Amino acid sequence: MDTTKTIWLPSQSSTIAPQIDVLFDFILWASAVLFVIVTCATIYFAIRYRRHGDIARTTPYVENLGLEITWTVIPFILLMIIFVWGFKDFLRFHIIPAHATEVKVTGQRWFWSFSYADGPSTVGELVVPVHRPIKLLLSSQDVIHSIFVPEFRVKMDVLPNRYTVTWFEAVHTGEFQIYCTEFCGKGHSEMWGKVKVLPEDEFNKWLEAGSGPQEGETMAAYGARLFVKNACVTCHSVDGSKNVGPTFLGLFGRREVLKSGQTITVDENYLRESMLTPMAQVVTGYDPVMPTFQGILKNVDIDGLIAYIKTLEQK
Ligand code: CUA
Repeated sequence: MDTTKTIWLPSQSSTIAPQIDVLFDFILWASAVLFVIVTCATIYFAIRYRRHGDIARTTPYVENLGLEITWTVIPFILLMIIFVWGFKDFLRFHIIPAHATEVKVTGQRWFWSFSYADGPSTVGELVVPVHRPIKLLLSSQDVIHSIFVPEFRVKMDVLPNRYTVTWFEAVHTGEFQIYCTEFCGKGHSEMWGKVKVLPEDEFNKWLEAGSGPQEGETMAAYGARLFVKNACVTCHSVDGSKNVGPTFLGLFGRREVLKSGQTITVDENYLRESMLTPMAQVVTGYDPVMPTFQGILKNVDIDGLIAYIKTLEQK
């Protein structure tokens, strides 16, 4: 499908990719030509002016203004070309088309979450329509991350306490890997995500289906879907086995001892608090590593998850 993939670079799947690649090729080949010239000249001079026997050949130093100007002006022109060209491309990433669709992207150790203005929130999967500019409004919950989609040639730092922006427009449908390119701790190399580019009509269907339970779906079934989709399943088992976090089996109504020594009964409010401010009341025996789902889970999502957890009774 992708004929634009080369030995150096992945396929050109965004509108900006071909422009970036022309600059990349220019720098690559200019460097290659200069490398060959410099290497050949070095070898030639080493042989031509090598020492003969015991007598060092001394060539008197002759000033050559023309030569000096040449080797100053040519690199200067080359660098200015690269600077102006690079700066123009840099600006392209920062000037967002006025009609772009905005997606809020949050990086946190060690996953990406995406929320749409009037739509759902997703974890690890950015779903976008093809041929529509997408503005990414980026921020981090903890340390510095950096979002990178090689096929789109899009890379931008994701910082705590401030927003950064970038944008892209996918030129064909497909799935593309998202990488984190800023070392952010032990899970950095697995801080992956996926961009799923859909045709316009499929994207609209996805938007509708994504917010709240679908028609005829019970809250518990919706919660079960969120449990997998939002990656709760990574740390919480439903079969009673101990994982990074407490098992959800028989969780509702269970008496838990907190790190503070206090004993609580797991009810709706405790579950809600644990999703939104997980550090508030940590159960003893577990590390306080749960990320907050504030801004990711809507009220209807929390209701669904609670309904699902209630169904997981200890037999
Ligand atoms: Cu996030 Cu590396």
